[in-house]
Amino acid sequence: MKSKVIKLAGLPVGIPQAANFTMVVEVLPTIQNGQLLLKTLYFSVDPYLRAKMSGGHQPPLYAGDIMYSRGIAEVMESKHPGFNPGDKVISFFEWREHLVHNGEGISILDNKGFQLSNYLGVLGTTGLSAYFALADIGKPKAGETMVVSGAAGAVGSIAGQIGKLMGCRVIGIAGSNDKVEWMRSVLGFDGGINYKNTPSIADEVARFCPNGVDIYFDNVGGVISDSVISRMNNYGRVVVCGSIADYNDTDVNFGPRLLPLVVYKKLLIQGFLIADYRDRFAEGIVQLQQWITAGKLQFAETIIDGFDHLPEAFIGLFNGRNEGKMIVRV
Ligand SMILES: NC(=O)c1ccc[n+]([C@@H]2O[C@H](COP(=O)([O-])OP(=O)(O)OC[C@H]3O[C@@H](n4cnc5c(N)ncnc54)[C@H](OP(=O)(O)O)[C@@H]3O)[C@@H](O)[C@H]2O)c1
Repeated sequence: MKSKVIKLAGLPVGIPQAANFTMVVEVLPTIQNGQLLLKTLYFSVDPYLRAKMSGGHQPPLYAGDIMYSRGIAEVMESKHPGFNPGDKVISFFEWREHLVHNGEGISILDNKGFQLSNYLGVLGTTGLSAYFALADIGKPKAGETMVVSGAAGAVGSIAGQIGKLMGCRVIGIAGSNDKVEWMRSVLGFDGGINYKNTPSIADEVARFCPNGVDIYFDNVGGVISDSVISRMNNYGRVVVCGSIADYNDTDVNFGPRLLPLVVYKKLLIQGFLIADYRDRFAEGIVQLQQWITAGKLQFAETIIDGFDHLPEAFIGLFNGRNEGKMIVRV
């Protein structure tokens, strides 16, 4: 059986380009005892893959490596006692249409009335990042003001809504008027800033947050974060979830020195990695499912069709092509 495979042809300089990826066709071996033949159904594409290409996220990706990310697959054939044909499974998978697997590290997905793709987004590591990072670092209290960057994306759209559920006033920052409108009308945010058409993000943050910022859920870093952190209140908490504005940097960039502010405002700035929470995924999924079922949590998925479009979908993360979670349906 032949199967397409996508590799990293070369490391990107700046924003990734289609030429950084290459597709080859490989012949799959016949499965042996203890193995499975999988057909991949969905892949998540994520900003951290770019950070892997510059060595910031471990383990790094090197030129020539097969790309991989979290995905959902169907068992086509099984010579493994733990899996049956038709089972849907979730794990990190190489970017292949079909693959032979020994079953290690993959789990059978019982999607319980939810779409399979939801387990790569709102019920996957992005929804769970929003949930755990906000609960453990942001610690929202009713009446506080929370600002979310990357607010119309997979993590940000969920983080902002959880802030609302906890009684916060939530302001989102995103890259288009349509996204700002979606955050306000569908997600229920109290306000939104389009950072791409605003002469001064700092002035807009000041206008939308007249009483300062108590929690900043940061998905982007860069100038947006400098502007928000400058408006933090005493004992404010900064959840550093991601820095997509910096992932494509070719130079080292410096913003204002914020440490004096950290001292005088007594700020907590803490990084977060969802991998630390693997043992608690089930708990987070139950809570997110309950909120969705009760109509309290909305989510969006931008689904790009076709295995060949994996690189294009990944690149789209850096020009804001997605609303909610970016997913490729194989
Ligand atoms: N720490 C963890 O465990 C963890 C887990 C998941 C994700 N993350 C991080 O969280 C962040 C969001 O991830 P996600 O999966 O939810 O992606 P996402 O927000 O769904 O997609 C990326 C979004 O980032 C925005 N963006 C792209 N370039 C930007 C720039 N230069 N400045 C500002 N915004 C920019 C774009 O929206 P606009 O139209 O608004 O520009 C784009 O839609 C990323 O930094 C990611 O690395 C961390």
